[in-house]
Amino acid sequence: MTHCASENNFPAVGLDWTAPQPLRCELETERLIIRAYRLGDTEDVYNAINDSRDDHLLPWMPWAKDNHTTLESTTKYICEQMLSLANPDTFNNVGTGIFDKATGRFLGGSGVHDVRKDTASCETGYWIRKDAIGNGYAREACARTISWALAPQATGGLGLQKVRIYCSSANTHSANLIEQLKVKKEVHQRNDYCIDTIGPTDRLGWGIMHDEWDCINHRSIQ
Ligand SMILES: CC(C)(COP(=O)(O)OP(=O)(O)OC[C@H]1O[C@@H](n2cnc3c(N)ncnc32)[C@H](O)[C@@H]1OP(=O)(O)O)[C@@H](O)C(=O)NCCC(=O)NCCS
Repeated sequence: MTHCASENNFPAVGLDWTAPQPLRCELETERLIIRAYRLGDTEDVYNAINDSRDDHLLPWMPWAKDNHTTLESTTKYICEQMLSLANPDTFNNVGTGIFDKATGRFLGGSGVHDVRKDTASCETGYWIRKDAIGNGYAREACARTISWALAPQATGGLGLQKVRIYCSSANTHSANLIEQLKVKKEVHQRNDYCIDTIGPTDRLGWGIMHDEWDCINHRSIQ
């Protein structure tokens, strides 16, 4: 997102990160399971997005505008996420589901995105269904996902070197959450993040290096 435009067209070899094989996502926290989507999740994901779309996911999640408007489109999305994990050689993105450990209820989405081989880095993001916010679920899921991204491959992680998180300066809930994880603010780009209902807003960005994060206790060691 904050890359120079030509970087995406002409990536360097750099660290030449490769994904673990097999590629799996099955993470646990005190209250949550964060895992790869399965076909059986389709209806729950579709309903959660449609119950949360209008005043909650929009305007912050641009994909919510035109996606998941039919059960078929959510089925397609889930198949794409499954295929992404099934192909470690081409892996560069996956959305994962956040579930209540006690009840199995679908709570929202997380994932790793824009995985770059040259810098061994990725972006992460999150959303929580409207009727489940305010419980600290996003923070818990985000911290666990960062640990998945940065932990060595031998311990079940992706073995990346860096995780990036971005949000609009107008998204105070998201910015607060990231600040509370005590990760370093790296980016403040003026009027670089356009929100449909607001217009251009500032882009804020945070970065966590692998030696700044405790992947066992899921917290910053800064
Ligand atoms: C932004 C968003 C993900 C936040 O979800 P959330 O689960 O409510 O967020 P948090 O994990 O930060 O928890 C929020 C509050 O829960 C409360 N909470 C309750 N129990 C808690 C617990 N056990 N642990 C931590 N917090 C708890 C806290 O008071 C916390 O507020 P605080 O910041 O005052 O400490 C959610 O509002 C959302 O989905 N928004 C739309 C999509 C979006 O903007 N995504 C981000 C795009 S960049």
